[in-house]
Amino acid sequence: MKNSYVMAASAMAMLLAPGAHAQSKELVLYCSVGEEWCRAQSEAFSRETGINVLMTRKSSGETYAQIKAEEGQPRGDVWWGGTGDPHLQAAQEGLTMEYRSPMLDELQDWAVAQAETGGYRTIGIYAGALGFGYNSDLVSDNPPACWADLLDERFRDDVQVANPNSSGTSYTMLATMVQLMGEEEAFEYFTELHSNISQYTKSGSAPIRAAATGETAVGIVFQHDAVAQTVQGAPIVTVAPCEGTGYEVGSMSIIEGGPNPESAKVWYDWALSPAAQEIGATANSYQVPSNAKAKTPPEAPRLADIKLIDYDFAEYGSSETRSRLLARWDAEIGALPN
Ligand code: F6P
Repeated sequence: MKNSYVMAASAMAMLLAPGAHAQSKELVLYCSVGEEWCRAQSEAFSRETGINVLMTRKSSGETYAQIKAEEGQPRGDVWWGGTGDPHLQAAQEGLTMEYRSPMLDELQDWAVAQAETGGYRTIGIYAGALGFGYNSDLVSDNPPACWADLLDERFRDDVQVANPNSSGTSYTMLATMVQLMGEEEAFEYFTELHSNISQYTKSGSAPIRAAATGETAVGIVFQHDAVAQTVQGAPIVTVAPCEGTGYEVGSMSIIEGGPNPESAKVWYDWALSPAAQEIGATANSYQVPSNAKAKTPPEAPRLADIKLIDYDFAEYGSSETRSRLLARWDAEIGALPN
């Protein structure tokens, strides 16, 4: 809390400094975590700094596409949350601004590594492993434990995952399968899986919300999103796939040329503080925070206990590879008949 007040005071001082009258006390935030967390985070920041936050929530791929479309006439200041790959692509394309936060020293190695990979145009704010969840009222016998189990014909039209163009979760799955199996085998896997998919959703966490209400048996999501449903009382069991799985470094970037650059830096430093990172757990979000001093919620899946691949963020967050894999997914999977 003390940190937050220091931050608030310095934000106020900056905004009240001579010549600062041109700075509006506003921040346009593009938010790519769950709606509840986006709101809680924006409200806490406004309370502490007096800066009014205009927030819109969109999935990771959608936000990347919006920032790309606004290139040259940016409307947003900060992109907060969402999977790291599209943040890295935005960094590579110069859509986001280089900034070295004084908070860097407090962060976990994986968060700093993300900043280094992105030339300090992005930074890690949380981490979480991919997996899936199933509804235990609908699947009682022989529950799925591996990626391969999701191809079983008993799950015909009973699995949901998002579209990897709009969703960072689903792109993480695409990149994970390519890294686990090799590209050709991964596309064969997605072709087979397609027979079991009832719907490719826009948002990454929608499939597990559908599983929670019994609309689908299985939702492929980040494990923390499955845990969030269980915490709320849904009959959801979280699975860390037996073959191993990928993970995200949820990220944050300042948009190049945005309308309120000073407010953007105030948000950025604040969002890396332990107090700001502990807001997630109060908003039903159970990722691992990037500030080493922030408390990891006890509900958060323990990354050390999950068989994680050595996810190559530089490769799968590059413009070339991300654009190519998405185009191939559209041509070979998205185009398949239902
Ligand atoms: O719901 C939270 C979350 O899973 C984050 O951990 C992640 O960065 C983001 O959503 C991804 O959302 P989407 O797949 O919709 O881009």
